[in-house]
Amino acid sequence: MSASTLTARPIAGSLGAEISGVCLSDNLSDELIAEIRSLLLKYEVIFFRDQVLSPEQQIALGKRFGELETHDFVAGMPDYPEIIRVVREAAETTLNFGGAWHADVTHQECPAMGSILYAVDVPPVGGDTLFSSQAAAWDALSSGMQNMLEGMTAVHSARGPFGPQGRSKDNWKNMQVTTSEKAWDEMEHPVVRTHPETGRKMLFVNKTFTIRFKDMTEQESAPLLNFLFQHASHERFTCRFAWTPGAIAFWDNRAVLHFALNDYPGHRREMRRVAISGDRPY
Ligand code: SIN
Repeated sequence: MSASTLTARPIAGSLGAEISGVCLSDNLSDELIAEIRSLLLKYEVIFFRDQVLSPEQQIALGKRFGELETHDFVAGMPDYPEIIRVVREAAETTLNFGGAWHADVTHQECPAMGSILYAVDVPPVGGDTLFSSQAAAWDALSSGMQNMLEGMTAVHSARGPFGPQGRSKDNWKNMQVTTSEKAWDEMEHPVVRTHPETGRKMLFVNKTFTIRFKDMTEQESAPLLNFLFQHASHERFTCRFAWTPGAIAFWDNRAVLHFALNDYPGHRREMRRVAISGDRPY
């Protein structure tokens, strides 16, 4: 086995590391892909700088980690349905896409395993993305709270962002977003999931998609859910990534929440995202 070229520099105490020593547009060896995957499992979100990726190369990279999926409500690029463009134009003053703590597509039976986000156009300052470790959030709960949550199931739905009266109605005008009655579909997931590769337990609720606990009303669920939403994004579980052109964030969507900051009025930001299919949470 050849010596690794990769170096990992952690950027925070709970999660996140910048990886150097690899050009992601190359046809990487299986060994190197396995190393990147194990760094992803270790750090939960990994970052790369100064990469140059065509859409074809981003798709090829994503496919080394699993099957790619299309988004139920955001159309992909015309010739590349697996890539969604996360765009905010300089003149936009409304909400940004991803501007709330969430894991991607947890309304699905099998939410994405991970996403690879590539920076095409970044504002001169601002537009950072925050990530929060849900294993760290879980570990920090009391045993009493953990025991109670272990038996609970949460209901997820895409209606908040993508339902007919959802947030996409007035926002994300420069993205190819559709609203649909399908967003009212509901999906049940355990409140705490076990990571299928590391075996770690992780909190698995998020403000964008989790609407209530199973067998409870929204009103009954709200106090505990609101506590969990706040707890899940406490600063001590987070890291913050400042984008530069050509930077990449690859997050383990089973293990982290993320939040795209909306603090760059008058500037443009464009990212390209591919999502890798995941499995059913348990
Ligand atoms: C997303 O939620 O996938 C977008 C994240 C970002 O634009 O930083």
